[in-house]
Amino acid sequence: MTKGIILSGGWGTRLRPLTCTLPKTLIPIVNKPVIERQMIHLKAAGVKEIVLAVSVMSDALKNYFKDGKKLGIKIHYTDEKHPMGTAGAIKLAEHYLKDENFFMLNGDVILNFNFKEMFNAHEQRSCIGTIASKIIDDPSRYGVLIVDDESKKILHFLEKNEYLPPNGKQVPMPINAGVYLLEPEIFSYIKPNKNISIEKDVFPKLADEQRLYHYPISGIWKDIGNPTELLQGNILLMKDILKNLKEKKNNLIDDTAKLEGRVEIFPPCTIGENVVIRNNCVIGPNVVIGDNVYISENTKIKESLIYNEAYISKNVQIRNAIISDNCFIKENVELKGNENALVILASHVEVLENIKLISSKNTPLTVCHHEKVKESIIG
Ligand code: GTP
Repeated sequence: MTKGIILSGGWGTRLRPLTCTLPKTLIPIVNKPVIERQMIHLKAAGVKEIVLAVSVMSDALKNYFKDGKKLGIKIHYTDEKHPMGTAGAIKLAEHYLKDENFFMLNGDVILNFNFKEMFNAHEQRSCIGTIASKIIDDPSRYGVLIVDDESKKILHFLEKNEYLPPNGKQVPMPINAGVYLLEPEIFSYIKPNKNISIEKDVFPKLADEQRLYHYPISGIWKDIGNPTELLQGNILLMKDILKNLKEKKNNLIDDTAKLEGRVEIFPPCTIGENVVIRNNCVIGPNVVIGDNVYISENTKIKESLIYNEAYISKNVQIRNAIISDNCFIKENVELKGNENALVILASHVEVLENIKLISSKNTPLTVCHHEKVKESIIG
């Protein structure tokens, strides 16, 4: 039976300060870590054993998943003292993966497709690897695949910024979706104990040797590289979950949530366990609220993520923001970002009464964990 390896050891620099206290792959997406959702997909395809290639904040991942019993999947961990690059990381797991083909995933992509079908497509070919691909309108930020449409062979694998569109105008192209089905022969292309990138150092060479195919995936796909993508990814997945429910619903509201008095919810919204929302609040559209969150009267929240255990007082306005776990927002606060520049509070931040954090430019307005915000910033 095919195994899997999920990369989960990067620094996640673009998602700081959220990743100062939590590895990127443990960040909840619609209230469940992105990597846990991937494991559920792998398990559905028959994968019973997974290696987590961990490095930065590895203890947080080990404490969360342990040996995998809760998920019904056996989990091993690599021992990567510092990030070894995406190929260097899997080389450390060669002894677990050397006997048969295996799935390899970037642990930071949101997706919903049938892994078994990708496996079946791979089995029909003689190659070292099959790369899941997704057609993206503006592929400029991704690795681009130049492919033969009929055979699905990858002719060139171009890393980020290497693809020059015709006449300088971006056109939809298949990009590397960060999910691979690989044969153990891949390990002969990776030198041990070196920092090696699979995208820069291995795949371009294999494409030149004509030993890679692509598999166009259906369904949603998004990587959560930066804060705006994290918010968009949550909204995308929330809509996808709602669309695929057997019983039609507009919102995902846990049964334990208490909406007191007149609370208006504009869909789609997700509300987790033991959440209290008091009279006259307006929530949504596009809001995900975690567990054990308290929201007092007259508060308005839209286009935002609120993580677990947050306390939000009366008369607060939140828009285009990410509020991490255990934040404490006092009365009459305004936290307003815009589509390209969110307001981001890392965990355990306290915002004092009457403060305004408003970002009007293109740079996110961020507050580090455990800080107390005493002055307004209108940037
Ligand atoms: P940025 O610093 O914001 O670019 O994020 P990142 O460090 O997570 O890098 P990137 O988005 O390119 O990583 C894609 C996936 O590979 C993520 O799941 C990372 O955790 C993982 N990853 C990246 N580099 C390494 C590494 O050196 N070792 C391991 N084990 N995983 C890695």
